[in-house]
Amino acid sequence: MSRIAYVNGQYLPHDHAEIHIDDRGYQFGDGIYEVVSIMNGHLADQEWHLDRMEYSLSELNIPMPMTRAAMKIVIGNLIRMNKITNGLIYFQITRGVMRRDHAFNAMLKPQLVMTAKTLPRLSKQMIDPVKVITVPDQRWQRRDIKTLQLLPNCMAKTKAMEKGAYEALMVDHDGLITEGSSSNAWIVTHEGELITRPATYDILSGITRKAILDIAAKRNLKIVERGFSVEEAQNAAEVFVSSATSLVTPVYMVDDVKIGNGDTGPVALALRQAYFDHVRALAAE
Ligand SMILES: Cc1ncc(COP(=O)(O)O)c(C=O)c1O
Repeated sequence: MSRIAYVNGQYLPHDHAEIHIDDRGYQFGDGIYEVVSIMNGHLADQEWHLDRMEYSLSELNIPMPMTRAAMKIVIGNLIRMNKITNGLIYFQITRGVMRRDHAFNAMLKPQLVMTAKTLPRLSKQMIDPVKVITVPDQRWQRRDIKTLQLLPNCMAKTKAMEKGAYEALMVDHDGLITEGSSSNAWIVTHEGELITRPATYDILSGITRKAILDIAAKRNLKIVERGFSVEEAQNAAEVFVSSATSLVTPVYMVDDVKIGNGDTGPVALALRQAYFDHVRALAAE
């Protein structure tokens, strides 16, 4: 079965889904995106992803391409047409198409592209811990907006892959970890505190991060939103990363320093399992 993509009102075979060469997303990265995972046929936190999409658009003065309700219909159609049970929906909205010029015309029609793909079913119980490296954070100062401009993230992730690591954690001028190239970063201290950087302009406010914070609060875990250094991470009881595609993924090594005995920690495992239950509960609402 060939994959079907959505491009500005049309459902097209994925290989023939095209956009104009004057699209500002293509030329300037002038647009935003979202990734929503589909777990056992359920969309994970769709409403929060749509909230963040609206936030990113409004921070960049890009209008919504269609109503939120219409977008949900397109998302549902793509899941059905591509017969996805486990996988993800990707959508991006760019400012529009115009003759190349840095300054944009405020009247452009936003362009919406949506794709869907199947991924192997993620396991609730079993997850091999991963290795991460650290790199300087070279991004702009509005990392809270989920823009298409991902070159520093792409460079960082490629460096991680070259070093046989799963993710690159980015480090700011003060030596504190901001987040992963496509994930949020967490540590658990030896006192059992769950630490993650506060959601300011410095990081993307991850939807998985938000769900984990809710779950952790319900479990009465002590949560502290603050920055932490590479050294603190290397000496922590647990380190893990979170994202729509990684969910909660434990880390066993940060820059060649092993975390604890290298096994998946109990907090990361419990949060991963609880995240699955959270998505299932949402679907039942
Ligand atoms: C830079 C960055 N931080 C964090 C995340 C995690 O966000 P979410 O949990 O919404 O997938 C992502 C996801 O792509 C990301 O690109």
